[in-house]
Amino acid sequence: MSELKGVIFDLDGVLVVTDKFHYQAWKMLADELKMDFDEEINHQLRGVSREESLKRIYRHNKRELPSQEEFTAQMTKKNEKYKELIGTMTSDDILPGSIELLTSLRKEGIKCSIASASKNTPHVLKNTDLDQYVDAVADGNEVTHSKPHPEVFLLAAKKMGLPPEECIGVEDAESGVEAIHNAKMVAVGIGEQGKAAELVVQSVKELSVERFRSLLG
Ligand code: BG6
Ligand code: MG
Repeated sequence: MSELKGVIFDLDGVLVVTDKFHYQAWKMLADELKMDFDEEINHQLRGVSREESLKRIYRHNKRELPSQEEFTAQMTKKNEKYKELIGTMTSDDILPGSIELLTSLRKEGIKCSIASASKNTPHVLKNTDLDQYVDAVADGNEVTHSKPHPEVFLLAAKKMGLPPEECIGVEDAESGVEAIHNAKMVAVGIGEQGKAAELVVQSVKELSVERFRSLLG
């Protein structure tokens, strides 16, 4: 059995609340394109890249994809709206228990990092001041493969200087838990979509150094 040396957290839905902003931004675009979009579809886009999300919205509406140029312009429009919305974020948008958990892990010498599909990760970390609580960040700007591909989790482990077997990943998306397992790491799942993980909780508030250690130990 390996000793726990690092914990890799997904960002959206695990440490911060951004679902509502993704929802509002996609909804604005979908309304404009006269496409159907609701909370349920939004829920299915957790952990899914921007490009794949828009493709899924088209598929859900049984619409053919537009030209590449138009498709890119639509992604940009969604992202402009999303950026405007996350511009209002502060440390109040950090989910309860996150700072305490990150602080206690690091106090025990366990490194913490972020593995997020989002290309807006740097803005979110800066606006919420979360960047000071992690040792490394891997995000959508640096990877070519979306979750469930393990790339972003492997990159986060590498940036912490740790082998995957000494790390645990934390995710709220089904594709994210799959990505952690594909990286050969133990997974902690948050909420309904986390059910394939080795440990399932409803929020980071329920996690502790001891609970993480017991998973590798
Ligand atoms: C993930 C979110 O973290 O990032 C998804 O769960 C989002 O909903 C994805 O689509 C990509 O985000 P962005 O900021 O690059 O459009
Ligand atoms: Mg997430």
